[in-house]
Amino acid sequence: MKSPAELARDCIKSIRPYSPGRTAPIKLASNENPLGPSPKALAAMEQAIRETRLYPDLPSTELTHAIARHHDVAPECVVVGAGSDEVIYMLGMAYVNPGEEVVISSPPFATYCLIAPVMEAKLVMVPAKDYRHDLEAMAEACTDKTKLVFISNPYNPTATIVRKAEVDRFLSAVPEQTIVVLDEAYFEYVDDPEYPDGLDYVRQGLNVLSMRTFSKIHALAGLRIGYGVAPAELAKWLLLVREPFNVSSIAQAAALASLEDREQIAQAVALNAEGKAYLCGEFDALGLTYAPSQANFIFVDIGMDSVQAFDALRQRGFAVRTGDIFGMPTHIRVTIGTAEQNGRFVAALGEVLNRP
Ligand SMILES: Cc1ncc(COP(=O)(O)O)c(C=O)c1O
Repeated sequence: MKSPAELARDCIKSIRPYSPGRTAPIKLASNENPLGPSPKALAAMEQAIRETRLYPDLPSTELTHAIARHHDVAPECVVVGAGSDEVIYMLGMAYVNPGEEVVISSPPFATYCLIAPVMEAKLVMVPAKDYRHDLEAMAEACTDKTKLVFISNPYNPTATIVRKAEVDRFLSAVPEQTIVVLDEAYFEYVDDPEYPDGLDYVRQGLNVLSMRTFSKIHALAGLRIGYGVAPAELAKWLLLVREPFNVSSIAQAAALASLEDREQIAQAVALNAEGKAYLCGEFDALGLTYAPSQANFIFVDIGMDSVQAFDALRQRGFAVRTGDIFGMPTHIRVTIGTAEQNGRFVAALGEVLNRP
């Protein structure tokens, strides 16, 4: 009998296991929304729990139509997934042939790194510049084999954005067989007027997929639900490879209730803006530099080894993301929390940096 290691596909053997990071009582490590879900979503979940003996609505019809109405696109353009992570997988399965290329920025968002090896494709990483995607270099990195390019906008881990004029230029420079994914997981937090709405490109009929999630502003990360919007002709192939019952009925119900809860979203945006202003002010006072954030997290250079800082912060009850995993060992990525969490975090960081 051969060992499973001999039987496993060679192409996946280079994959590094995803590290979720260690947690702590105050978790500022995964860019979650500290406010929690909308009361409407909670009520919808309670209702949906009673119906779990039934399979979920296939294929998320009611939610798909609601998302389509919300964005004023045809329902055929919408692909609902178990988190946007699953939409990334569907893109790989539907579009990436062995030997083709997937272009991403370095440091990367972890899920983008998975589909290239799984599909026996080549992952091409283009270093970010000044904490931002280097779209010119990414366009240059595209070849006649490039099938997918992922641009997280805002960019995880730095929270910076690329602006409309740059994205316009990039889209006109990519080869004809390249699909561009604009991952807009943090879309709602952005306040820069030059931020491009990925859906505009979808409406123009370009080979663009705009990806959104219920994990961040909607605070439904634990349910695993997100979606992509693309021209119907592009979305059609994702729908073909999607697992039939990929999204649970509870997740669909919560997302449906949360989608139009503008009050909840406005509250989360306001809390985040206040928290961001406060943290940036405190970082300035500590003399720390950080990337300009357009999301619910900040990438800050603390000027010391981030793994050591992580341990010291953890002893004080906080979990953040260390920069070593992003190749920037003196940086940490911290999620913006509630006012109280932010205040306590600043006090703890001051102690760790020896600057009370
Ligand atoms: C850039 C980016 N895209 C996608 C996701 C994942 O979203 P989901 O929870 O919908 O899979 C995250 C989560 O951290 C993210 O930062």
